[in-house]
Amino acid sequence: MVAETTLSVDDLIAPLFIREGIDEPQPIDSLPGVAQHTLDSAMAEARELRDLGIPAVLLFGVPAEKDDVGSGAWDPEGIVQVALQRMKAEFGDTLVLIADLCVDEYTTHGHCGIVDADGNVDNDATVANYQRIAVAQATAGADIVAPSGMMDGQVGAIRAALDLAGFETTSILAYAAKYASSFYGPFRDAVDVTIADGGDRKGYQQDPRNGREAMSEIRADIAEGADIIMVKPAMAYLDIILRARLETDLPIAAYHVSGEYAMLKAAEANGWIDGDAAALESLIAIKRAGADMILTYLARSVAETLTNHRPAITGGPRAITSAKPELTRGIGG
Ligand code: PBG
Repeated sequence: MVAETTLSVDDLIAPLFIREGIDEPQPIDSLPGVAQHTLDSAMAEARELRDLGIPAVLLFGVPAEKDDVGSGAWDPEGIVQVALQRMKAEFGDTLVLIADLCVDEYTTHGHCGIVDADGNVDNDATVANYQRIAVAQATAGADIVAPSGMMDGQVGAIRAALDLAGFETTSILAYAAKYASSFYGPFRDAVDVTIADGGDRKGYQQDPRNGREAMSEIRADIAEGADIIMVKPAMAYLDIILRARLETDLPIAAYHVSGEYAMLKAAEANGWIDGDAAALESLIAIKRAGADMILTYLARSVAETLTNHRPAITGGPRAITSAKPELTRGIGG
């Protein structure tokens, strides 16, 4: 009765990796329980997630071929566009489709943009390609596009491109405060990305030492038309989530990233922590800090815990918060 924070299935967004040209789902060693899906297995997984009450999925593509600019990201036949079309046709408005909008999975060098002759990412040329991706994803059925490349001006440019193409109602989930983090390691296995020449993303992602800078990134994205803003990673950046909450009334998303998930799973596998309890505690903490929704590889297992009324550290009748779909469905986050 006096609990200040609740976690419900409605808060969860499940990332899905879809790989072109495979016949069987491929497990990802550094993300136990997560797989690279075939189109068919992604459809089945999305259906089960939807039936568990998870409101949204976030799609990442792993193309069969990469090139210098990442053109597979906006190819109408690209893996994510094909998946979006199938999911929209199959699930209609019963599952929110979010498309990660970036090129790193599609480029040979693994950067989130076009690399110039000096080896730097060309911000403005990259943003023009992000506009093409946004329109391709919206055309294919994305309800929300989620630009994750951290280029300056990306949100405004994408909003303009979507509006021009008649997609005024397609929303933007902006990776607004995204840090250059070591916690993305397992994700890069999941999408087969190695950044060329031992490079990193410090030229475009944020310095973990900076908090005020995150606020200015968030303010810029809001001014450019973001509908939801995101802080990423989550657990090491709870202060940023709280500051974001104090800054804006827009919905706030937090990404509990691959390395955060992998640490939990590794400790659980060694018998060092109670994995289910630690998972719930982590997600509750992220909500307590001020997040409205959480992107997490735990989505499926936590949804199962919540709907099966299994006991967990927070105790009490959490099932009640997750078992009122008529009231909450459709209102969102
Ligand atoms: C970039 C992107 C990344 C993640 C989501 N979108 C990787 C990066 O910036 O290097 C990381 C997600 C995770 O670690 O779970 N397309």
